[in-house]
Amino acid sequence: MKVIAEMDEMVRFSEKLRCEGQTIAFVPTMGFLHEGHLALMADGQKKADHLVVSIFVNPAQFGPNEDFSTYPRAMDQDLEKCRNIGATAVFTPAAEDMYPAGHETYVVLEKLPFHLCGLSRPVFFKGVATVVTKLFNIVRPHVALFGEKDFQQLAVIRQLVQDLCFDIEITGVPIVREPDGLAMSSRNKYLTPKQRPHALLLHRSLAAAQKMVTDGETDASRIVALARDVLTSCPDIRVDYVSICDPGTLDEVAVIEDAALMAIAVWLGKTRLIDNQMLVQTNRM
Ligand code: PAF
Repeated sequence: MKVIAEMDEMVRFSEKLRCEGQTIAFVPTMGFLHEGHLALMADGQKKADHLVVSIFVNPAQFGPNEDFSTYPRAMDQDLEKCRNIGATAVFTPAAEDMYPAGHETYVVLEKLPFHLCGLSRPVFFKGVATVVTKLFNIVRPHVALFGEKDFQQLAVIRQLVQDLCFDIEITGVPIVREPDGLAMSSRNKYLTPKQRPHALLLHRSLAAAQKMVTDGETDASRIVALARDVLTSCPDIRVDYVSICDPGTLDEVAVIEDAALMAIAVWLGKTRLIDNQMLVQTNRM
């Protein structure tokens, strides 16, 4: 497995594979790899001849009071996991190469970021869209894979690929959960043993919402109210949002017709957790 830090070398490496008629699947990550990342990689391997992973904690997607400096990092273990799964290359650029002095171009979407996580993380999607655009230009993949846990991020990437005419297939991969239901996330590492059981309330509130829909409820506000009650049954949880929305536009819906996305973000102590699920009327399941 090649570990490539230089942008030029990564471009040359990908171009060589492309010239040989080989295809590249790309999994961009910020490292501290868990089973969710490994599922993206395994799917990527099925879709192309070569798997390229990037590990880069992108400063541009963190707000001034967010956890950029404390974001968990484990480069040696991450490289070992990539090697074990059979990645062809791992791209590990330096921040000063990705954002050299004088860098001033950013990728900004006009609508999708003004929903869900974008409301409380105003720089997040600008940073994600910018770094993913750069990574696509450097890694030059045929297919790129993103987790459905970050549903809004996946929607943003799909939109930018369409708007900026990238010839890249974007694949969403279902959420990978711990056996007890907690969605896998690098930030789960921040949870204390006391907080860890409370984190299950996200998954439980989604399950309670689906049960309401299965029982015939279609009024989104009643379902949101129930989910909020489940979440705030723990006094340590502060709800950022509970939203039932159209999975394409992310606009909130008042009535669930067939299916809608339910997305949740909470603070549990200092840790921000997100989760989501499609709510589906049972006669459609
Ligand atoms: O989902 C992530 O880990 C990051 O947002 C991404 C897509 C690697 C961009 O930095």
